[in-house]
Amino acid sequence: MTIFEATCSAPVNIAVVKYWGKNPEKIALNLPTNSSLSVTLSQDQLHSKTTIRASADFTSDRLWLNGHEESIEKNKRLVTCLRETRALRASMEDKDAALPKISGLNIHVCSENNFPTAAGLASSASGYACLVYTLAQLFQLPLDASDLSIIARQGSGSACRSMFGGFVAWEMGSKDDGSDSKAVQIAPETHWPDLQAMICVVSDAKKGTSSTEGMQLTVKTSALLQHRIKDVVPKRMEEMIKAIQDKDFPTFADLTMKDSNQFHAVCLDTYPPIFYLNDISRAIIRIVTEYNKDGIKAAYTFDAGPNAVIYAPEKNMAEIYALLSHYFPGHQFDDSLGLLKNNAAPSALPQN
Ligand code: DP6
Repeated sequence: MTIFEATCSAPVNIAVVKYWGKNPEKIALNLPTNSSLSVTLSQDQLHSKTTIRASADFTSDRLWLNGHEESIEKNKRLVTCLRETRALRASMEDKDAALPKISGLNIHVCSENNFPTAAGLASSASGYACLVYTLAQLFQLPLDASDLSIIARQGSGSACRSMFGGFVAWEMGSKDDGSDSKAVQIAPETHWPDLQAMICVVSDAKKGTSSTEGMQLTVKTSALLQHRIKDVVPKRMEEMIKAIQDKDFPTFADLTMKDSNQFHAVCLDTYPPIFYLNDISRAIIRIVTEYNKDGIKAAYTFDAGPNAVIYAPEKNMAEIYALLSHYFPGHQFDDSLGLLKNNAAPSALPQN
């Protein structure tokens, strides 16, 4: 029997201008209410890895996540990514009779993360970026990273940004069909090697309110979100892009911390309120603020969970690690803090 197979890995990205809010009239297309910007982390430490096989002998599409089989039909967003990539492959097969007919075959998807899933560590970003990239490899789709980001966005919004390494903007776009709501690279992974990220795993428990549910409730109930979308993010995107281009760490850090704070303020302004930060998260904010009192040397940011990501120039990282270990002695961070250099986008692994 012939088995077609592709294996790829994809990195996590951590936003410095946060995506929070979906256009309620375009839920299936997953269009954001504001543009966002992130840093893609190294695949060495955190990544998703996916293998997809297609065969005429498979009797149905099947999915395994971190070793457990899950229902593929219940996972509508995965089905969307599969439908879109299959349709593109089918039209290639229609035009070129020499191409193997893979689009009609059932597939088996096997995906794993080497870090806690759904703990606010961007697992859906690397997971869906990896799924779409692997499907594109399997079906040999002639699409660039921005084209693929449009498909990955429909899996999980933040996934579109993991299609590139380095510094990546998700431009919200304005077209009704979402064809211009895509990721673009602001600067490559080689641009600012001195900038590092440290992940502080405060908790690896699954988060209480999923990003999807949380942001839909925010759009319905938060007046502060409307201010953020109109008056804050457009200007902040421009300032952040300039700070990155200029490698201006104090400005980058100032904007990053303010954006994280505003995102969590918007969560608190949601009704009923959403709490992602816990006492340890707030203690980390105070420690970084104190550390910055004579000039900005580090920036914290928190996604939809209590875990902190600290961005800082390489020379400050040992000091920050020592500071956190001092305030949180014992096992709390011992094996969890990692130094991450920003690095590369999804990659196909060599096939045997
Ligand atoms: C706080 O991309 O997980 O991490 O599109 O519903 O899958 P869905 O949401 P998701 O939301 C990420 C939100 C965030 C901010 C960000 O990464 O920009």
